[in-house]
Amino acid sequence: MADNKVMEIPTYNDEKLAAEYQAKRKAQMDEDFKQPFDPDCVLEVRHLRKCFPMKKSLTGKVTKELVAVDDVSFKLKAGETLGIVGESGCGKTTTGRAILKLHEPTAGQIIFDGKDITHYNSAQMRPIRQQMQIIFQDPYSSLPPRDTVGGILSEPVEVHNIVPKDQVKDYVLELMEKCGLRDYYFERYPHEFSGGQRQRICIARALSVNPKLVICDEPVSALDVSIQAQIINLLKKLQREMNLAYVFISHDLSVVKFISDKIGVMYLGSMMEFGSKEDIFKNPLHPYTKALFSAVPNPDPTVKMERIKLEGDIPSPANPPKGCRFHTRCPYATEICKHVIPEYREYEPGHFAACHLLEQK
Ligand SMILES: Nc1ncnc2c1ncn2[C@@H]1O[C@H](COP(=O)(O)OP(=O)(O)OP(=O)(O)O)[C@@H](O)[C@H]1O
Ligand code: SF4
Ligand SMILES: [Mg+2]
Repeated sequence: MADNKVMEIPTYNDEKLAAEYQAKRKAQMDEDFKQPFDPDCVLEVRHLRKCFPMKKSLTGKVTKELVAVDDVSFKLKAGETLGIVGESGCGKTTTGRAILKLHEPTAGQIIFDGKDITHYNSAQMRPIRQQMQIIFQDPYSSLPPRDTVGGILSEPVEVHNIVPKDQVKDYVLELMEKCGLRDYYFERYPHEFSGGQRQRICIARALSVNPKLVICDEPVSALDVSIQAQIINLLKKLQREMNLAYVFISHDLSVVKFISDKIGVMYLGSMMEFGSKEDIFKNPLHPYTKALFSAVPNPDPTVKMERIKLEGDIPSPANPPKGCRFHTRCPYATEICKHVIPEYREYEPGHFAACHLLEQK
């Protein structure tokens, strides 16, 4: 006799599931916020969230918002580089700017050098700013055109009293040498230089105040490929000499592979996977990471890489998909993925991911 059993299709109550998820997440956050700060870390980011208002009512109440960064957490030690990767619009820059408090975080905790700076006002941030610097993608628009290189580099040194006034020029000349800039550039203007040289000036300016943390937001993306390696090598050299922590934002995975110690993979505002460079390149867990990294050419011809092509467009962060945000493009998505947000869990020490497939293993 034929088997009359009908496969039961689970039903999902999306509203109930969302409420349960939020309650669980809130409890986890409250617990994490109470944890002592890690004394080994320069930077600790806990459940960072940044929303931008999209629509307001007549009374000024926000009625629709875009969640640009949702629940991002990581730790970074002195001398380490965290690479943040992900497609355009996934929230890399917003994460970097929220850490520096150039964007006020909507929720979460930012612990810098043992201090919780999340709610610091601008006066409290002033001395901290010196220790947290940023290098932007475009070295053309980031330098004032009417000041000389010497003037540009001396100003922050004077403002922050890094050395006595009579030693500023010598200090700047030494810094220029460290950054591969000739001493006669001191009297020159930014427009006289190529993109690579300008980026060296930007790096020198960022490092002139002895920071502990530098956010590098696509620092080589606007440069010729031949120049990119020189700038990356310079950043690495300076990191060793000054024990700097870098948050290195890029969509170029080869560059990220070269420079990073840890890597965070973002999609639509959320961290999909986080781990050491070895974890992410040798044992990626999340389908999005696998797809993203399958496009990086492997120099070893004996290693066969299966190219996973992502279909479909990236959904709008203003209207992200329910359940797993990646389900509309994931080749392994099942019914549960459309309804239930997967938990961000630690699968190996220091290796985190959010995917139902992993939960079932
Ligand atoms: N000031 C802002 N106001 C409103 N929305 C913003 C603002 N800044 C960023 N966004 C939105 O937040 C989302 C994340 O943007 P973000 O610039 O952080 O992405 P990204 O990963 O750095 O992208 P890219 O690789 O293109 O630089 C995008 O949808 C963007 O449109
Ligand atoms: S939870 Fe589902 S949709 Fe999301 S990455 Fe995992 S398998 Fe793909
Ligand atoms: Mg960006």
